Amino acid sequence: MSLNTGLDRRAFLKSAGMTALAGAVGSGTAEGVVVAGAAVQPEQTQFDFDTIYDRIGTDCSKWDAQIAKYGRDKIEVPMGTADQDFRIAPVITRALQRRIEHENYGYLTIPASYVESIVNWNKRRHGFEIDPDLLLHSDGVHPAIISTLRAFCPPGSKVLVQAPVYNGFYTDIRVVGCQASESPMTLVNGRYAMNFDDLERRIDHDTHALILCNPQNPTGNVWSRENLMRLGDICTRRRVVVLSDEIHCDFVNRANTYTPYATLEDEAIVRNSITYKSASKSFNLSAMKVAYMFSTNADYIARIKRTGQHRQGINTLGVVAAQAAYDDGEEWQKQVVDYLDGTLDYVESFVNANMPLVKVVKPQGTYLAWLDVSEVVDRIGAKQTAADASDREGQVTPETIVQRYLVEHAHVLLNTGSSYGVGGAGHMRMNIATSRQLVALALTNMAQALAQV
Ligand SMILES: Cc1ncc(COP(=O)(O)O)c(C=O)c1O
Repeated sequence: MSLNTGLDRRAFLKSAGMTALAGAVGSGTAEGVVVAGAAVQPEQTQFDFDTIYDRIGTDCSKWDAQIAKYGRDKIEVPMGTADQDFRIAPVITRALQRRIEHENYGYLTIPASYVESIVNWNKRRHGFEIDPDLLLHSDGVHPAIISTLRAFCPPGSKVLVQAPVYNGFYTDIRVVGCQASESPMTLVNGRYAMNFDDLERRIDHDTHALILCNPQNPTGNVWSRENLMRLGDICTRRRVVVLSDEIHCDFVNRANTYTPYATLEDEAIVRNSITYKSASKSFNLSAMKVAYMFSTNADYIARIKRTGQHRQGINTLGVVAAQAAYDDGEEWQKQVVDYLDGTLDYVESFVNANMPLVKVVKPQGTYLAWLDVSEVVDRIGAKQTAADASDREGQVTPETIVQRYLVEHAHVLLNTGSSYGVGGAGHMRMNIATSRQLVALALTNMAQALAQV
């Protein structure tokens, strides 16, 4: 894969008065990478996250779908779809190879040992016990959320979310014929906070569920125990079931702590919830299609099975992969979290030093950086361009114009903030789960492109 952008990076850096620290981001660093603040040292890892791993031509949505849309010359670093560009943990590959040697993929009985792996992982890593009798399997978090919404929320009713939030929730809510009721989070010094007064005001006789995201996609918040207790108290008092999506829970930075909703001290609050998880984000197994949900409330689980008509059909190779990951992949997972934590430090210091039009605060969790690009929107006249484009193409947001601008001028693809609901305007989401060389290349390209506006 070529790192040659065709852009005169040296000249740009020189004119911008920046210091290039050769080799600061690992071996084979993109030429002229700028590191502000503390120099980023290559991670001492047993696993190699630094070498660029070429995924092009594998029908992956992160690379191939964007290349198909914009052309290879315009996509040097796609930073959209939330998966990772790394080779997975070798223990997973070995387990899959062993299973493939048995050349038959007939219907699967979900093995008790897989359930044990799920229970043990959550006990070991997150300190709580899942009751296997109250665990349901699913071929993704989405289908699990959809059957839960079917069970609790009549068509036409409202489902609460705290926005900006993962855009997939809006699709799930639409699929079951409900409406999203968006409680806007408040933004203080770049950090989001739940707005409890607004949240409670929104609950009426027609609001039966809230979808919580912890850690939060796209803002990167890792919610504190106090926040979750306050939210749980409101929802329990007002009879709103909490669907706690914790798919990003294994990506929490050194300075922060993930609180599983299931570990809250109040039993009634926990009984009023269902939690959704998967090894898919933690170990980069998204297309393996295995996830699970659990609760301490037997009535809720029975209702999801019956009324939500939940089907527990999962993928044989997905089970093998997830089980190997949970049983033997912990060291890889810890190292990938450390690597990405370091990359997020690098992103924060680079952006703050070299992109005066962009603001970013390091997320507490996830591998997603949430960039405030409102000044870029103004500088490139994105609002007017979006209005003109909307006449031709249907609704086009200013963030879509920023997206197109960055693809054209920086060859970097980011996700539009406006797709994450209320409060997402003026923002872009950047997935940094790739080799630090590519992150450096993307940031350098973006800084250069934005210096022209
Ligand atoms: C918060 C959240 N939930 C769910 C999903 C998707 O889950 P799945 O692929 O298991 O359906 C994502 C993917 O990005 C996500 O960020």
